[in-house]
Amino acid sequence: MIKHADRIYHGGDYNPDQWDEATIDKDMELFKKAGINFVVLPVFSWAKLEPQEGVYDFGWLDKLMDKFAEHDLKVCLATPTTAQPAWLSKNYPEVLPVDKQGRKRTHGMRVFFCVNSPKYRERARAMAEEMAKRYAHHPSLVVWHVANEYGTFCYCPTCEKKFRQWLKNRYGTINNLNEKWHTSFWGRTVYDFEEIMLPTELNDDYRFNPIVNLDYRRFMTDSTIECFENEAEVLRRYNPEITVQTNISGHIENLDQFKMVKHMDIAAWDNYPKPTDDKSFIAYKHDLMRGLKGGESFMMQEQSPNQQNWQPYSKLKRPGELRMLSYQAMAHGSDTCSYFQLRQSIAGQEMFHGAVISHNGREDTRTFREVSQIGKELQQIGDSFIGGRRPAKAGIIFDWDNWWAMEYASQNCMPNKNFNYLKKISKYHKVLFNQNIPLDMLSIEADFSGYRVIFAPYLYMIKGDIAERLKGFVEQGGTLVTTTLSGLVDEHNRAVFGEYPGPLKELLGIWVEETDALPPDEKNQICMEEGSGFTEKSYSCGFHCDVIHTREANVLGRYGMDFYQGTPVVTKNSYGKGQAYYLGTEPDEKFLAELARVICSEQELAAPYQTVGNVELTERVNEKYKTVFALNYDKEQEAEIDLKDETFTELITGKTLTGKAKIPAYDLLVLRKDI
Ligand code: GLA
Ligand code: ZN
Repeated sequence: MIKHADRIYHGGDYNPDQWDEATIDKDMELFKKAGINFVVLPVFSWAKLEPQEGVYDFGWLDKLMDKFAEHDLKVCLATPTTAQPAWLSKNYPEVLPVDKQGRKRTHGMRVFFCVNSPKYRERARAMAEEMAKRYAHHPSLVVWHVANEYGTFCYCPTCEKKFRQWLKNRYGTINNLNEKWHTSFWGRTVYDFEEIMLPTELNDDYRFNPIVNLDYRRFMTDSTIECFENEAEVLRRYNPEITVQTNISGHIENLDQFKMVKHMDIAAWDNYPKPTDDKSFIAYKHDLMRGLKGGESFMMQEQSPNQQNWQPYSKLKRPGELRMLSYQAMAHGSDTCSYFQLRQSIAGQEMFHGAVISHNGREDTRTFREVSQIGKELQQIGDSFIGGRRPAKAGIIFDWDNWWAMEYASQNCMPNKNFNYLKKISKYHKVLFNQNIPLDMLSIEADFSGYRVIFAPYLYMIKGDIAERLKGFVEQGGTLVTTTLSGLVDEHNRAVFGEYPGPLKELLGIWVEETDALPPDEKNQICMEEGSGFTEKSYSCGFHCDVIHTREANVLGRYGMDFYQGTPVVTKNSYGKGQAYYLGTEPDEKFLAELARVICSEQELAAPYQTVGNVELTERVNEKYKTVFALNYDKEQEAEIDLKDETFTELITGKTLTGKAKIPAYDLLVLRKDI
């Protein structure tokens, strides 16, 4: 959580180095009117702050910081190291990245440097130190933000050298590497770490080899962590009381965020949903961000107050949409509501991106009014839910190694080319979300003891002690659901030697002989056995169909067609005091919703309050209050929440509510009570 936060930070990216003083003064007035209390800067100002190597020009920023203090604006200070100055790239070409095609790139882009370049790190650290010296105790400073949206991969000679060293540290000897990489396949044995190359497009051997790619991603995550720590360590040294983070791009695949965020005080991320994204998919990403620090609150660092210019169609956010998205983020664990950007640039790649203040500079615009409404409401809400956690007894396991391993496998050897881990896992999240069952996204290392139901879909890679811990969880009375493509490989991406699903087969009481892959337009059927507790007799399924043999497990459903018609597809095994389910296929949404309903009622998990209508409901609990968020997404109809005999204050209207309370159409309640 953000250290010492006394309010929900409402504001966003501000680039005053683009404006003259009169405009900045005007902005101060406008910020006040919009209830903006938080600015993020100077994300892209390295070239202005250090015009020549070691020569600094902080005068303008000093003045601004004092102006912010005068206007009671809190500041998230970014080290501007995402966009190195041209002189740095020109004088030291080593800072420029080499791309996957093996091309040395030229200067120009932001987030476009080699994270392993010693010169980049030297200058970035020096810049961080200059900033820390000046501002670490400035009264406006509340958060340090290092660089911006890390994630550019590099394949330069420095990275190659470091990768070899990283492999040496990981595997110790070349013989061990040969064994773990199973290089006897296609005669790829290496005799020296110096023989190892990078998985670029110049090297077909490695670019298609899943284990090399997997290790490269792990290496890039570790290199990026070092690059972050290179600056964060300096910032912390000057004032350990200031929260340090970096913002995670909405495209979260490149770096293992569970590992990255261990090095930060809080997870912070940029929420740029596609206009077509279902609300459950956005909630899923928020839940994942909350999961990165074991359920602690996070920062929504960026969202566009209106259109996103880089989408194929810059669709405007509809009236009221920004408000719903903002409260949704806070309902799922954000302690900030922060925008990119406060004032719209007049030129450059993002000149037509949404902003709180647009080119017209006016306050009587729809966007400005909507932002001001949120600002006013947040002033009323005050510090109510800051740091609040979401009490949940259901969890879904998410893992970057699994993501990468499966998608690499999908490219060349897995039964199905269409594997999209993020989307596949989201289907399990969606059915719990739609029933308003509180849930957490869990890392493989999470403590499972507080949970009653764990979904571990597509747990392809079994690493560390996860199999043992899942067994322990079920033995103690928990319910586990896992699926096709689970238990197939070890942490080195080597298939289990023996029956699938490897270390999980005893827990599941089955073994899987073979897996049929269906193209998107081919389906099979799950025919439910009598007494399964499901309402329908059959459901559609597709994607994969495992041919399953049961041992101790009971069969809940069987295939309806093909040569494996009548064989098991859904099984349930009693293990210790609990139950382990296996889904040998990808069922349709109806089946998954039923499964969630059946399992949650067996384990007595339910939505915290009953609702009528299209309502998203969450609770956040901190030391002082329980806060309930109820968002009605229906644009025409009012909805209802049954608070029973509990009494709450609705923070936006100030009304006291109990029993059945109405939620107006496309509106929301933020309900608070003392605990
Ligand atoms: C990213 C960046 C911002 C800005 C926005 C635009 O999230 O961090 O600097 O480019 O996208 O949507
Ligand atoms: Zn490099």
